[in-house]
Amino acid sequence: MKQLKILIIEDEKLIRWSLEKHLTSKGYVVFSAESGEEGIKLFELNRPEIVFVDNKLPGLQGLDVILKLKSLDNESIIVFMTAYGSIETAVNAMKAGATEYINKPFAFEEIEVILDNIKNKISIIKEIQLLRRQQKDIITFDHIIGETPLFKQIIQLSKKIAKTKSTTILLLGESGTGKDMFAHAIHNESTRNEKPFVTINCSSLPETLLESELFGHEKGAFTDAKHLKKGLFEIAEGGTVFLDEIGEINQATQIKLLGILENRIVRRLGGTVNIPVDIRIIAATNRDLKKAVDEKSFREDLYYRLKVFQITLPSLRERIQDIPILTEYFIKYYNHQFQKNITKLNDSVVRLLMQYAWPGNVRELRNVIERAVILETMNTLHADSLPGEIVSNHEIPKVSTHSADNVFIASEKSDLPFEINIPASGFSLYDIEKQIIKQALQKTDNNQTQTSKLLGISRDTLRYKVKKYRL
Ligand SMILES: Nc1ncnc2c1ncn2[C@@H]1O[C@H](COP(=O)(O)OP(=O)(O)O)[C@@H](O)[C@H]1O
Ligand SMILES: [Mg+2]
Repeated sequence: MKQLKILIIEDEKLIRWSLEKHLTSKGYVVFSAESGEEGIKLFELNRPEIVFVDNKLPGLQGLDVILKLKSLDNESIIVFMTAYGSIETAVNAMKAGATEYINKPFAFEEIEVILDNIKNKISIIKEIQLLRRQQKDIITFDHIIGETPLFKQIIQLSKKIAKTKSTTILLLGESGTGKDMFAHAIHNESTRNEKPFVTINCSSLPETLLESELFGHEKGAFTDAKHLKKGLFEIAEGGTVFLDEIGEINQATQIKLLGILENRIVRRLGGTVNIPVDIRIIAATNRDLKKAVDEKSFREDLYYRLKVFQITLPSLRERIQDIPILTEYFIKYYNHQFQKNITKLNDSVVRLLMQYAWPGNVRELRNVIERAVILETMNTLHADSLPGEIVSNHEIPKVSTHSADNVFIASEKSDLPFEINIPASGFSLYDIEKQIIKQALQKTDNNQTQTSKLLGISRDTLRYKVKKYRL
């Protein structure tokens, strides 16, 4: 267990001093305060796990101090110390939230017994947290599939940055490229992995709710605020806050976020104290934030605070070589899920998958494979099980056979014939398409606009295919 931090709030100098000395010698990190007020300040600054609180103090009394500490952090463990040992005071202290109490004067052995109890509790809580983490299948970098050099490099970098404790990370990329997965994997690879990972979807909450979700509110801050509520930044203490769809937040919240990023403190709505938070922030968006800054809908200073470390995830179109392994991975996954046993993939299916543009990226591929695995009745995945838009995506021209060696092909939208040479080993639509595009480019002297007209496909499709066939 790491060194525990203990705060002593005690006005009697001798007790404070001897307790401090004893606990320090036992390896604890000790802070001490002479009054409740001072103690609360130290508590907020240092976030000790355990607090010893004296009953009779000069200003704020012991019971009030406990209430205040509990409102700052409900998980803090408080040992109540009293020289005026009435049962009633002890009961009240427990009601206010103290975990243990001890009568003064005490022997150090008693303190040891109490601390052993507390350490047991803390390790049980930790174990439960760990178990919970194991139950929710935790996303790590092992679950992120991709072997193209660019993607591998991104994974390496992300692992490195995960090891830094608090560096803010901005994840960019189209929808379905894996931003969520990366945020989780970075958290789980970091030293914060036993602390919470809190996701806030900035686009799904109305403005007013978003603020109180993020920052919390004091009791009575507004009409509906019947209880004190901690904000998500406070709840995430020690862990990671994932601000998804950051491009959607309004100006007022942008200013408040800036405050957190700059000073790592939050203030609840209706509150007066600044609460320090130790968190890493990961933000993600599929929007072009730079453009939003230029258009003045996103604050430039916030943008720079967020992009301390920026990771741009490539679209699936930019890493089509990864489509086969991703497909295999999802087939295995859904085989298991639906008790199927698909072991083979038709070559033509792979080609179809590699030719499609995947506007929804890996998420769309996963959904397509899920559907195909459900539909497929054989052990091989066939094109019939793929959705229409993938199968009919191709502007593959019609084939008409003239002789055994030569095939003339006429594109549907043009009457210009292309000559296709069939290799002895046979031919595939893949080869045919490649040859046609090559010839069309030659005929137009590599003019892409004319080529796309000639083939009856859009310029985007042409560019994509040129890249795919490396023409
Ligand atoms: N590299 C990857 N390896 C495996 N699965 C992936 C990968 N990228 C995305 N996915 C799958 O796609 C889904 C969507 O990814 P997600 O991280 O939610 O994307 P984003 O947040 O960018 O929209 C994930 O749930 C996961 O199943
Ligand atoms: Mg997402």
